Amino acid sequence: MESIYGDHLPAMLETMNGLMAEIDIIRKEMTRSMDMDPVEHCLSRIKSEESMREKCRRRGLPESEESALTQIFDAIGIRIVCAFLDDVYTIRDRLRQLPGVEVVQEKDYIRHAKPNGYRSYHMILRVHGKYYAEIQLRTISMDTWAALEHHMKYKKTISGNGDLITRELKRCADELASTDVSMQTIRDMIQEL
Ligand code: GTP
Ligand code: MG
Repeated sequence: MESIYGDHLPAMLETMNGLMAEIDIIRKEMTRSMDMDPVEHCLSRIKSEESMREKCRRRGLPESEESALTQIFDAIGIRIVCAFLDDVYTIRDRLRQLPGVEVVQEKDYIRHAKPNGYRSYHMILRVHGKYYAEIQLRTISMDTWAALEHHMKYKKTISGNGDLITRELKRCADELASTDVSMQTIRDMIQEL
């Protein structure tokens, strides 16, 4: 079967790697000025053929290149995992200033967590007026929670204890969030010394 991305894959990869290179520059500059690398790790991926087709169907869109490239914005995905809360917003500010990059949408699920407790800062960028990319910025705590919640999503419905699990997951998310605030405060105190 022909790729849902048509012949765009090489150019999409180039766009993704270009963004990763920009992020690396931001990271290096911040490391120099803060004396510490603000990024714990950074991942990038092109959404798989199968996930993209599934998402088109779920959204009621035709499984086409047009849908994949202009209706769905996370064909290119980058996740930046930071040590501290402030760094998420500092990197956000730097991404907003990237030349040739337009911010199409921003969702602050950190200040406004999802009801289940999910936290992250999401940005949709459009690079050189062409490809869209979804950037997820989060702390290590938020990343840990999202990974565990993702695992359990599949098992929850079978267990019959859905409500309790949902409540406990939410509680963990909130505890982790409060730890993030404490860790940030500790860093601020150290930096003032
Ligand atoms: P999709 O969820 O991708 O259909 O798009 P959307 O428009 O709802 O965007 P949203 O910003 O809600 O989520 C986009 C991405 O964020 C998802 O594909 C996940 O990677 C992540 N995400 C959002 N909500 C959750 C959540 O509750 N748990 C986890 N683990 N990840 C989430
Ligand atoms: Mg969603």
